[in-house]
Amino acid sequence: TPRVFSGIKPSGGLTLGNYLGAIKKFVATQGSMETIYCVVDLHAITVWQDPDDLRNATREVAAGYLASGLDPSQSILFNQSQVSAHAELGWIFNCVARVGWMNRMTQFKEKAGKNAEKQSLGLYAYPSLMAADILLYHATQVPVGEDQKQHVELTRDIAAKFNHDYKVDFFPQPDPVIDGPATRVMNLRDGTKKMSKSGQSDMERINMTDDADTIAKKFKKARTDPEPLPETYDGLAERPEARNLVDIYAALSDVTPAEVVTEYAGAGWGQFKPALADLAVSKLAPISEEMARMMDDPAEIDRVLAEGADRARAIADPILAKTYEIVGMVGR
Ligand code: TYM
Repeated sequence: TPRVFSGIKPSGGLTLGNYLGAIKKFVATQGSMETIYCVVDLHAITVWQDPDDLRNATREVAAGYLASGLDPSQSILFNQSQVSAHAELGWIFNCVARVGWMNRMTQFKEKAGKNAEKQSLGLYAYPSLMAADILLYHATQVPVGEDQKQHVELTRDIAAKFNHDYKVDFFPQPDPVIDGPATRVMNLRDGTKKMSKSGQSDMERINMTDDADTIAKKFKKARTDPEPLPETYDGLAERPEARNLVDIYAALSDVTPAEVVTEYAGAGWGQFKPALADLAVSKLAPISEEMARMMDDPAEIDRVLAEGADRARAIADPILAKTYEIVGMVGR
């Protein structure tokens, strides 16, 4: 059976981008395939995380998974650091991947900017740990947002080089699963930038834990142009902020952006923005309420993660053992 793997970094709170680009798809996939969803805490520390904040964010991502409908009896839910095979296979892949491959990773370049020399070595090697996350389970499907596409392609290159170098047919070629209107949710203040957990201003993003008033205020203040909504979706081609709001509406209501434009053709922002805010609140409020309830009982979240880690290890450990054997490590 095809196996699905994906993960979210606990580096700050979950955003609407994480929800629409990732979590909502995780939930939709559950049940039809074997699904493994990770809270990738080892990835989070590639940039500085205060230890208490990291613990809290790890539990918050887990609570976001559960409150959105991921069910530990149908999906394996765990945090990465509890399954040491991730770090071990990550090391082997550091020895398979080439420096030139890492130098082409656009996300590192964007994050590091002119300060590449000051970044952690972990941030640079990050995509090879991500390859280990996926290939440790022989996963073939990886639901992600657009920004992770290049990392999944690198994962394919690492798998192919490993198989080639060791003359085996061991690691499969995983496919990124990137579809729907919200594969790249944009920043509410600048439609050319991605909505992210770490943007400077909180007004740029909708957090999954924002209350109804905050969501309404953020959409109200979202940057747009003065034109009303066009008659057709093509009319949004040169209007990134406007298109982003239409795409968000479409993703939240499970219709196509073209249908949203048809419904609101000619409407002004004074009409569309409150409708979008109401829609977002109706979808997010039940989730954030459940997240808050769960965060009051961290021991229960930790129990779910520990149990998921046991199940993850049962799949990962034999694959790591076989990898060590292929590579020529004595023992085990
Ligand atoms: P991360 O934590 O940055 O984001 C988690 C997921 O949310 C998606 N996403 C978005 N989708 C649409 N619009 C946005 N504005 C937006 N922002 C974030 C991301 O594409 C991602 O799917 N490297 C990964 C975590 C990771 C991983 C893996 C993913 C580690 N190992 C193995 C898949 C498989 C990351 O930093 O995602």
